[in-house]
Amino acid sequence: MKVKAAVFYETGVPYSIEMLDLEGPKAGEVLVSVAAAGVCHSDWHLMTGATKHPLPVVPGHEGAGVVEAVGDGVNRVQVGDHVALNWAPNCGSCFYCLHDKPSLCNTFVGPIWAGTMMDGTTRLSKDGRPVYHFSALACFADYAVVPQECCVPISKEIPLEVAALIGCAVTTGVGAVLNTAKVEPGSTVAVFGAGGVGLSIIMGAQLAGAARIIAVDTNETKGDIAQSFGATDILMARPDTNDSIRNLTAGRGADYVFEAIGIPAVQEQCLDAVRPGGTVVLVGVSPMGSGTNLPGAIITRQEKTVTGSYYGSANTARDFPLYAELYRQGKLDLGRLISRTYPLEQINEAYQDMLGGEIARGVIVF
Ligand SMILES: NC(=O)c1ccc[n+]([C@@H]2O[C@H](COP(=O)([O-])OP(=O)(O)OC[C@H]3O[C@@H](n4cnc5c(N)ncnc54)[C@H](O)[C@@H]3O)[C@@H](O)[C@H]2O)c1
Ligand SMILES: [Zn+2]
Ligand SMILES: [Zn+2]
Repeated sequence: MKVKAAVFYETGVPYSIEMLDLEGPKAGEVLVSVAAAGVCHSDWHLMTGATKHPLPVVPGHEGAGVVEAVGDGVNRVQVGDHVALNWAPNCGSCFYCLHDKPSLCNTFVGPIWAGTMMDGTTRLSKDGRPVYHFSALACFADYAVVPQECCVPISKEIPLEVAALIGCAVTTGVGAVLNTAKVEPGSTVAVFGAGGVGLSIIMGAQLAGAARIIAVDTNETKGDIAQSFGATDILMARPDTNDSIRNLTAGRGADYVFEAIGIPAVQEQCLDAVRPGGTVVLVGVSPMGSGTNLPGAIITRQEKTVTGSYYGSANTARDFPLYAELYRQGKLDLGRLISRTYPLEQINEAYQDMLGGEIARGVIVF
């Protein structure tokens, strides 16, 4: 079949909207009619070269839609199901899956970073040449073929735009708080970067009962947005930001500090912003090959913990329906994340709006 997709060819060159060929689902695969796809910064890292990937590629990894067809042996979903798409599918039987770390599943890592399905081939092509799938999803297209492990059924009561955001920003941010850091009620939390991911961290911190949630961003508008999501204090990123954080935390520093940007210098700043005995959670994705200077002398003497959080340490089959239910109950205000929707043709504009920092999350709707 022909599909309309946003294709990325080379660093610095905007997406082009093209008609591609999409083969039907093979064994274990599912054809999804994509309804919505969020504008996440992780796709932009391809554009800047910070993340390397085989090209050309169809990005888009924060999506939701309706199952249109299933390949042989598919037993997780049926035609007509609403699904949120999981960009880190897990097999359930590898070392990491068996040790409660499904977001680190290594069964799918090879094919995912090769941009293919499990058999090493793509379903997308243009004039007979392969076009690669980003994160097994490639959902900046009106249809996507994905491994069935990427499909998590979601209640039909949940708007598909909201389900799409559960597919990345929400699971990453709320999960970083609840699963990775396990923030306790009464904690002080600082969040560097108030984009879709940082705002989800703020929502998660509120859900966890944090007493103080300090949002740090370079953009004034983000301060107002962060406040509407439950941040108690807003700081503009400045050289003396950490002094302000200490002033707000009895001189100690925050109990938990989350980095949701992906800049090594800010990651270093986070180590200084956390109190002795506190935890820094690195959520932002820094450029492949970059390094961060985190002094061991301080980590040891002050018993600071630094941990990464990949996809919110999620178990997506458990967490997607949980976040959908918390949204339904009004405990996670996920609709508020959607500042603006765009047709696929305006995807470059949507990314400029993300970089401009005036919006919480943009969503491509099909
Ligand atoms: N760990 C994971 O599994 C995972 C999942 C999704 C996204 N990410 C990563 O999280 C990061 C954030 O993604 P997003 O979609 O929210 O991005 P975004 O562009 O929507 O938000 C980034 C925010 O950081 C702010 N910012 C930029 N420089 C800053 C600085 N020096 N100090 C303070 N604030 C600054 C921007 O104004 C913006 O509000 C990206 O690196 C993305 O790749 C990680
Ligand atoms: Zn993402
Ligand atoms: Zn596994």
